[in-house]
Amino acid sequence: MRLQGKSALITGSARGIGKAFAEAYVREGATVAIADINLEAAEKTASEIGKNAYAVRLDVADLSSIEAAVKAVETRTGGLDILINNAALFDLAPIVEITKASYEKLFSVNVAGTLFMLQAAARSMIARGKGGKIINMASQAGRRGEPLVAVYCATKAAVISLTQSAGLALIKHRINVNGIAPGVVDSDMWDEVDSLFAKYENRPKGEKRRLVGEGVPYGRMGKPEDLTGMAVFLASDEAEYIVAQTYNVDGGQWMS
Ligand SMILES: NC(=O)c1ccc[n+]([C@@H]2O[C@H](COP(=O)([O-])OP(=O)(O)OC[C@H]3O[C@@H](n4cnc5c(N)ncnc54)[C@H](O)[C@@H]3O)[C@@H](O)[C@H]2O)c1
Repeated sequence: MRLQGKSALITGSARGIGKAFAEAYVREGATVAIADINLEAAEKTASEIGKNAYAVRLDVADLSSIEAAVKAVETRTGGLDILINNAALFDLAPIVEITKASYEKLFSVNVAGTLFMLQAAARSMIARGKGGKIINMASQAGRRGEPLVAVYCATKAAVISLTQSAGLALIKHRINVNGIAPGVVDSDMWDEVDSLFAKYENRPKGEKRRLVGEGVPYGRMGKPEDLTGMAVFLASDEAEYIVAQTYNVDGGQWMS
């Protein structure tokens, strides 16, 4: 087991990719905080995973909620070893229709949420003096813009940049900060993504989801489980010398 005895907090892990990460971490011997804004869903997920998963209410857009979640992990497990910044929101609209409200919502969760969650985790890890691993969820959307997806793309480019700066700043404390950039992953988020594309590209529901899957060099959309190998590796001792990188795990969509 590659994460035996480690304590992890995964934001937005009540469902989707975060849930698959939590399942994989518990299989590898970790204890995992299912930290989500939807406490009821987090409790259900934790009980499905078993005794090494527990639910914590967390809104990554709220500093006091972040502090409370890190405290809850410290109290329960003695300290935090691994953070995955996974929670994020999606939206799309033509450039000329983007609202300030949508911009602020996405930046407060995807960017400020990632930065201040990372900061709270780093403070806790530095105080404990045992190092740690922080993994930020970026996206292929952070590698290049898309005509309808300007704000989400910009948030994910910011996550890649924050990963670089934090990675360089924190390695002296033996905290490795790295990122994962998935391509298109068939999660609940895609119900919303598909509906928005159907609206703005005037398509039948389900068509965009099918087309993006067909466009992946591997031949299908990703599944949350396709990302777990990288998430376990980056949290393990084997990744000790990896600093400030963001890895594409996307079936061949993007090369960088
Ligand atoms: N699905 C994809 O195609 C895809 C592609 C590239 C990157 N990603 C990234 O992977 C990550 C996970 O995506 P997913 O598809 O599983 O998403 P999802 O929408 O299925 O799940 C997101 C989870 O985050 C929680 N959440 C939302 N706001 C929160 C907040 N303020 N505080 C705490 N929790 C909050 C939700 O309750 C939900 O459980 C995200 O960072 C996403 O941007 C997804």
